[in-house]
Amino acid sequence: MFNHIPYPRQAILVTCQAEIDNMGKTIDKKNIITLSWHMPVSYDPPMYAIAVAKKRLSYEMIKRSEVFCVNFLPYKLKDKVLFCGRNSGSAKDKFRETGLTAVECEKIHCPRIKEAEAYLECQVSDMVEAGDHMIIIGEILKADEKRKGKRIFHLGGDSFTTTE
Ligand SMILES: Cc1cc2nc3c(=O)[nH]c(=O)nc-3n(C[C@H](O)[C@H](O)[C@H](O)COP(=O)(O)O)c2cc1C
Repeated sequence: MFNHIPYPRQAILVTCQAEIDNMGKTIDKKNIITLSWHMPVSYDPPMYAIAVAKKRLSYEMIKRSEVFCVNFLPYKLKDKVLFCGRNSGSAKDKFRETGLTAVECEKIHCPRIKEAEAYLECQVSDMVEAGDHMIIIGEILKADEKRKGKRIFHLGGDSFTTTE
């Protein structure tokens, strides 16, 4: 496997909201997914790309709502980031279980995470199939940096590090 080679990579939380089927009932769900595979892709217009496996609930939700928010968390919250990357929203309410606070985004109908250092509100502009993942490209409608603290970098597996 190649996949330890491009690490460490910043681990982020992407938030989304959509109507999903839950045991035969339609519910309006807010969800969180941890991602290490993501990058900025355009200045004008500003765009950000995330790689989400096709089998993830979050992929289905973003496909449906066509919006997502990229949240950059502080290093002290790395255990919550790991939790969101090891548990699916199909079985858990990750906002409730992590205690992270959902705040409505300004430009899109989607939650963001109050505890984030910075966030990007994105409207999906394209989706490109790449093997077992989809590269979801979003136009950034709002970018905000609240703090400039230390971020979380994924080393692989359950390990993280941060900057000096
Ligand atoms: C540190 C870390 C990084 C991850 N990076 C990605 C990623 O870039 N793309 C992806 O599809 N899944 C990634 N995952 C896995 C998803 O976060 C995980 O499958 C999650 O439970 C999916 O949630 P959902 O089913 O609620 O969408 C990562 C997991 C961890 C712990």
